[in-house]
Amino acid sequence: MFARVNFLLKVEVAKAKAELIKSISSLRRNGKSIGFVPTMGALHQGHLSLIEKCLEDNDLVVVSIFVNPTQFDNAEDLDKYPRTLAQDITLLKTLSSFKIMVYAPSVEDIYGGTVDAVNYDFDGLEYEMEGAFRMGHFDGVGTIVKRLFEIVKPDFAYFGEKDFQQLQIIKKLVKKHEIPVKVIGCPIFRAANGLAMSSRNSRLKPDYKKEAPFIYKILTTAKLKFGTKSANKVTEWVIKQFEAHKLLNLEYFTIADVETLKPIKRKSKKKQYRAFIAVYADDVRLIDNIALN
Ligand code: PAF
Repeated sequence: MFARVNFLLKVEVAKAKAELIKSISSLRRNGKSIGFVPTMGALHQGHLSLIEKCLEDNDLVVVSIFVNPTQFDNAEDLDKYPRTLAQDITLLKTLSSFKIMVYAPSVEDIYGGTVDAVNYDFDGLEYEMEGAFRMGHFDGVGTIVKRLFEIVKPDFAYFGEKDFQQLQIIKKLVKKHEIPVKVIGCPIFRAANGLAMSSRNSRLKPDYKKEAPFIYKILTTAKLKFGTKSANKVTEWVIKQFEAHKLLNLEYFTIADVETLKPIKRKSKKKQYRAFIAVYADDVRLIDNIALN
């Protein structure tokens, strides 16, 4: 049914949706719960924390590994995105579970002949922050996640809060399209120095890697400042810190309402806010965010 990776197999790999669907359907018929962690591979501790939570909650875990072309607005970024399937499978085996199935499809298996994104209306969530700087990004994310949900038909799906805007958009996708899955947001997994885990970190050159924890340092200080200062004052302070930084270039820093993702106008005790940031470390684009209240 599944291509065996080696003799002592703990993780099974399906390269085609037909294989995956066949295996999952018998489990589903037996009333097993199916958890799903969609990824683009180059797995790290952040992914593993999602998968571990998913393993705790479900009888079977499906991890998809697919670098989705339609969510990249930049051909070079797509080209340079790390692809490490063999290494990813080795890492998954360290989780010592017999409950993991990897779905690592080809572009053809997902998209057929036409590699196009559907145009979605996410009630404006898609135009803020990442959506403003990466044209069509969330159409690509919506397209692939909906397609993967249709194939895997999970009971629960797990997404990291590092991509908080993506998480809100996927919740909206599920609600608007009445997809029968519960979306679970999981906390950001950070290295000891505060840097949010990301597949892109592996592309950081040594000097940039050393400096990248500055992003979280700024976010934590911004959070403190937000206690007593206006969002504008905090934003001005953040901009100055990056202007003075020799290696890191700020793309945006926004304090936004977690529900609408619109930039804050006036603080309200009834609302929840997060600070969102995107930074270039040379040609590597890093994003992060922090809850402010
Ligand atoms: O967060 C990611 O890795 C991707 O955007 C996702 C959800 C796997 C869709 O390609």
